[in-house]
Amino acid sequence: MFSGLNESNMAELQAVRGTQDLLPEEQRRHRIVAETARQIAETYGFQEIATPIFEFTEVFSRPIGEATDVVSKEMYTFVDRSGDSLSLRPEGTAAVARAVLSNGLTQSTPLKFFYSGPMFRHERPQKGRYRQFHQIGVELMGPAQPQADAEVIALGAHILERLGVLKSCILELNTLGDSSSRQAYRAALVAYFTQHVAALSEDSRDRLTRNPLRILDSKDAGDKEIVAGAPAFDAYLNDESKTFFAAVRQRLDLLKIEYTLNPRLVRGLDYYSHTAFEFVTTALGSQGTVLGGGRYDGLMPMIGGPEMPAVGWAGGIERLAMLLEAPSPPPRPIVVIPVGDATDLAALALTQELRHAGLPVDLGYSGNVTKRMKRANKVNARFALVLGEEELSRGAVVLRDLDAGTQTELARDQVCQSLQAILA
Ligand code: HAM
Repeated sequence: MFSGLNESNMAELQAVRGTQDLLPEEQRRHRIVAETARQIAETYGFQEIATPIFEFTEVFSRPIGEATDVVSKEMYTFVDRSGDSLSLRPEGTAAVARAVLSNGLTQSTPLKFFYSGPMFRHERPQKGRYRQFHQIGVELMGPAQPQADAEVIALGAHILERLGVLKSCILELNTLGDSSSRQAYRAALVAYFTQHVAALSEDSRDRLTRNPLRILDSKDAGDKEIVAGAPAFDAYLNDESKTFFAAVRQRLDLLKIEYTLNPRLVRGLDYYSHTAFEFVTTALGSQGTVLGGGRYDGLMPMIGGPEMPAVGWAGGIERLAMLLEAPSPPPRPIVVIPVGDATDLAALALTQELRHAGLPVDLGYSGNVTKRMKRANKVNARFALVLGEEELSRGAVVLRDLDAGTQTELARDQVCQSLQAILA
């Protein structure tokens, strides 16, 4: 298939723009993020779930919102061979809600799910922003109590702390109120921005009718000036929404989780109500939000389910992985070095025995002893087991300590035990 490879079609073999190969070191960072998150989430009672990578398009379009950038510009949507409109998942929340419905789990609340995996958005790629990226996420479905919001935020903070990145993050917190507060605020915003419509950026003019709240987090300098004078949400929050937010804050204070109030924090997906939050770092340039989420009490009915209050978040694995300290390298292997062709089979048998005992072993495929010792250096081996014909005929092998530069003889039938003892 690739036989016609030449300069001009080489370019086609690049990874697609906005996607990346995760080579072993990067993948190790990803695994640390996902594993740490999964383990800590388990201590909070969250169990791992996995949903398909694609869904019927409306699973996402309705709850995320037709007018949002994610749905209107960024989804990878295609018609499959059955004529169904499918989309690669741009996020996990709507998919998890769909799974709860499809599996008849709505009666067994509270539901507490953790997930990690790839998501897809056709955004303009830059550092920290990709078209295929990976998220960790949690969804807590059922409880309407502010205790749930606090618990979910505490879990996010706990994971960031364990990853060593919490210290470089600020937790930004806002409330989007209940739907009647939001409608009142929306009307006030539309009235205000309509007065300034001529000075708004094209994007924001477009949002004015579709999604006026999103103008609040416009990055355009001119918009920012207008936004500075926009009415604040506070004045439009009804008492119920204020009480709820106060209760969330009281619990965060109790747990000593520091936060900054950001009344402009609106989030990019439509399904939110009440609590909205983002952990933001300055260490990554403009793509500084490492973890974000909030309450989404209205989502379930949007996909045909019953009322089901819920709260959750998702974190960007690529962004978190970039903030990690250098991960510990893989365990240093033992190299098995056959001397002369006749010891090849003995080397393979010994390697298998050691691997079954749980020891990491590297067995080269060819080359003389010098070449194999070079390989031992390259893989940062700790020991070499050298299998010479003469030693083997006596039932022995040579163990070289590659750090100390010393060597000893071990009985062939004791190699495993001896190495385990040395390594312990
Ligand atoms: P989101 O804010 O769209 O929320 O994404 C969550 C996180 O995913 C972001 O803070 C960021 O770290 C990462 N992320 C998003 N887009 C990209 C991208 N193109 N490249 C790299 N990283 C990215 C959600 O997805 C909601 N489902 C969160 C949620 C769960 N809310 C309630 N439950």
